[in-house]
Amino acid sequence: MRTNDKYYLTTPIYYVNDRPHIGHTYTTVAADVAARYHRLRGEDVFLLTGTDENSQKNVAAAEKAGYADIPAYLEEMSRVWRETWSDLGLRFDDFIRTTEPRHIAAVNKFWNAVKERHPDDIYPGEYSGLYCEGCEAFVTETDLVDGNCPIHKKPPKAIKEKNYFFRLSAYRQKLLDHIDSHPGFIRPESRRNEVRSYIDKFMTDVSISRESVKWGIPVPGDPKSVIYVWFDALINYISGIGYGTDEEKFRRYWPADLQLVGKDIIKFHCALWPAMLLAAGLELPKQVFAHGFFTIDGDKISKSLGNAIDPRDLVKKYGFDTVRYFLLREITFGGDGDFSLKRLGERYANDLANELGNLLHRVLSMTEKYFEGRVPPAEGGCAEAAADQAEAWQNYEQALAELDFGGALDVIWEHLRWDNKHIDETKPWVLAKTDRKELSRVMNYFLEHLRHLAWMLTPFLPETADKMLVQLGLEPAGDKPDWKGQQAWGLMKEGATIRKGAPLFPRLEANSEEK
Ligand code: MSP
Repeated sequence: MRTNDKYYLTTPIYYVNDRPHIGHTYTTVAADVAARYHRLRGEDVFLLTGTDENSQKNVAAAEKAGYADIPAYLEEMSRVWRETWSDLGLRFDDFIRTTEPRHIAAVNKFWNAVKERHPDDIYPGEYSGLYCEGCEAFVTETDLVDGNCPIHKKPPKAIKEKNYFFRLSAYRQKLLDHIDSHPGFIRPESRRNEVRSYIDKFMTDVSISRESVKWGIPVPGDPKSVIYVWFDALINYISGIGYGTDEEKFRRYWPADLQLVGKDIIKFHCALWPAMLLAAGLELPKQVFAHGFFTIDGDKISKSLGNAIDPRDLVKKYGFDTVRYFLLREITFGGDGDFSLKRLGERYANDLANELGNLLHRVLSMTEKYFEGRVPPAEGGCAEAAADQAEAWQNYEQALAELDFGGALDVIWEHLRWDNKHIDETKPWVLAKTDRKELSRVMNYFLEHLRHLAWMLTPFLPETADKMLVQLGLEPAGDKPDWKGQQAWGLMKEGATIRKGAPLFPRLEANSEEK
């Protein structure tokens, strides 16, 4: 089933001055889970990610790496990002690079659209002040700690040059009105309040071009200046769906349904970006969701600490589903958290291998033992099961609609735990001797329930969920299942053969890395 509903979601585009680490992976995994969920619902999903290439820090990294040819470095690194996401099983519908002609065309169109609609909104002026290259942002003395940028621990550069400015201040009231009348626009609530107060009290016009910088997209009509990297980068969200090159596609997908960002870049996404869109006469995204940041074993992720975990290494050991599960279970989406290999190992052993893997294994083993590997009759079924499960689906879908990934996983795990307990209580091995009819009823229930849980797991643990469905004797989920239809109770066919396979989460060799 494919409806006409579209669902367009984006991740930030990442700088290519380094390789992806587990922090970047977090945002991309969350986007992938949301995208898979909406695909399952039959929506026409478009997930855009990509690389932010017109930044001075990329140029500095290229030079440091000994590249005389900057485009060659950008291409090489952009490939690393794209391949990492593909290797991790993250599915995107397009990957935009801000050095591509389609993006440059869109940026030119956008700039000219703003100039045409509001000739005074882009105006020349002189900028004299401080600039932090790490943040790619202008900073003030009050932002500094001991003369350094608090994030990058380096002094900003003093700059004096002719710049074009964007009249951000002209949009203050419109932005505030939009935020007030659209409670879902900035999520979670705490971020919304933070941004609202920034817009209300501190937001000023912003310089959107640089004269001293040579790398970047030239200002239309003034090629001696280049466009400020954030002004150019934000436009990726529309250039990636055809703004300036494929109007039909652009009209189909814009406005975005969800823009996922980390809390570090919320002002750009919730103040500058919407004001830019208003200036160009375009609709605002339906929602910008800012998730929190996590540390690694209590420390900030940093190159100097050498703790920037490469997601590919982690996946080699634990499998991708485990990493997906851990990121979305351990760190409340929207809040801050900590990532520890110790906790990852614990959750693997307990939640995945034990509570999930063992349950499937137990149920299938008993089906083999007592019913020759065939689904036994429901024998009148269980009166509350269908209603309970319908309620579980409702809670699950509601949690996902709010991007409460942890909440959706809680629904699943509550049920897994209940099943494990219920097996111990109903003691099928005793029923096998005393009450075959009751045994049949109970085992049919467990098989049917596992089918539901496998479907619920599909967006989160796609590989595992498919293995579960196959072991239950069913087809893997595929891209366009009858999602609502699968939520009905009682679809396991009596007499169908199950296919018990290898454990879903085998015991891991003890590893010295785990503290
Ligand atoms: N290029 C800009 C974004 C431009 S979007 C128009 C940028 N790039 S970045 O490579 O620095 O990526 C930042 C994003 O990576 C954050 O917003 C967040 O999504 C993710 N994260 C980086 N470190 C992270 C953590 N430690 N924890 C969680 N997310 C992290 O900013």
